[in-house]
Amino acid sequence: RNVAVILAGGTGTRVGLNIPKQLIKIAGKPIIEHTIATMQASPLIDEIIVMMAPGYLDDVRAVVKKGDYDKVTHILEGAGGPGATRNDTTALALSALGEDDCNVLLHDAVRPLVSQTIIAANVEALETYQAVDTAIPSADTVIQVDAVSGEDGKPRMTDVLPRHLLRRGQTPQSFRLSTIRAAYAKAAEDPDFQATDDCTVVLRYLPEVPIAVVQGHERNMKVTEPIDVYIADKLFQLTSADHPAPLSEQDYHERLEGKTFVVFGG
Ligand code: CTP
Repeated sequence: RNVAVILAGGTGTRVGLNIPKQLIKIAGKPIIEHTIATMQASPLIDEIIVMMAPGYLDDVRAVVKKGDYDKVTHILEGAGGPGATRNDTTALALSALGEDDCNVLLHDAVRPLVSQTIIAANVEALETYQAVDTAIPSADTVIQVDAVSGEDGKPRMTDVLPRHLLRRGQTPQSFRLSTIRAAYAKAAEDPDFQATDDCTVVLRYLPEVPIAVVQGHERNMKVTEPIDVYIADKLFQLTSADHPAPLSEQDYHERLEGKTFVVFGG
């Protein structure tokens, strides 16, 4: 059994609107609805659980009812309030899941452009591995700086990380339920626990568990800053303008190349 957990406990302070960013409408639907719809459409996903920002559960209930997303079995409160983190929301989801050892795909609500290919790659990797990350190569050089700023307030560059070994993490991050639970149980005992994603928890607390990395996609972006709302909206147009069904990844590339040509060719 494959359960998709949609993490939507945040409020989107960096986007900075008066509603959580997962409720912003792009391409005619709230961001979280695109995410739910893609999970619903996957023949590999059996059940969907939504962890929503406190105070906004009714908004999700309305979306689920209107769209008839019948794989959604639970709409629960994520970890909100001061100091609450994404990991706290994951921990709540893990305790809400039952005793059956299923697969869990933890996915950011604000990555509405996740593809069936990426979901399938996660599920397939779980046949062999207990932990799976989704990542893409970094086009930018990634540099390291010191934590203390110089006198002029500018940090100092201290290292350049080898780009061929770097990847940018996306979601889903997928696990055997028993494995991610064991990792979180250990993390709960560590007063210095700090992470921003779920694979880090397995890496840190269950170092003997190998984590497979499957190919993500540039399209599977996280809506984080105001400009991302605009970019995600444009990306939806690229797939849906005259193609009512989502494009295959190959069509998408051809289409994208066409666009680039138009841009540069005037
Ligand atoms: N998330 C969550 N619970 C939290 C914080 C974040 O479930 N306590 C979710 C967000 O809703 C989002 C995903 O984790 O789908 C990625 O987090 P991020 O982009 O940092 O979202 P926010 O915390 O909402 O954004 P910001 O940091 O700008 O406030």
